[in-house]
Amino acid sequence: MSQRTFSIIKPDAVGKGHTAAILADIAAAGFKIVAIKRISISKAQAEGFYAVHAARPFFAGLTEFMSSGPIFPMVLEKENAIADLRKLMGATDPAKAEAGTIRKKYAESIGENAIHGSDAEDTAAFEIGYFFAGIELK
Ligand code: CDP
Ligand code: MG
Repeated sequence: MSQRTFSIIKPDAVGKGHTAAILADIAAAGFKIVAIKRISISKAQAEGFYAVHAARPFFAGLTEFMSSGPIFPMVLEKENAIADLRKLMGATDPAKAEAGTIRKKYAESIGENAIHGSDAEDTAAFEIGYFFAGIELK
């Protein structure tokens, strides 16, 4: 059954001009782009998005980074979208990511790692609703 997931092309990848190449990889993997926009978010908005990581030592750096430049949040759809996007992204640390994955190809470090992808159905629902209104998701 078709499933939706949420993704963000992060500020490092946008700033380096990798947006179109990453979207091409996503399309080639069979995902339909349901919604996408280019926006810049405040540190407080990044903190709300990553609230689950609030107690982690990397939280301040992560939210500083995510509010440092434009990002492309998007909603993607295909069968098994959540797990398949995580596979396409590669490991959180690009040094440990498999060849051909987005993080291996476009990311620099465990912090500035090019792309976000939801890790479960409940987080996908929260993350889609954080960035998009129902009327944008027909
Ligand atoms: O993004 P992913 O689900 O693979 O990793 P996470 O463990 O949910 O962490 C969220 C984000 O925090 C990562 O994508 C990194 O940008 C950042 N992070 C970091 O800066 N330093 C770490 N040691 C772990 C994660
Ligand atoms: Mg995560």
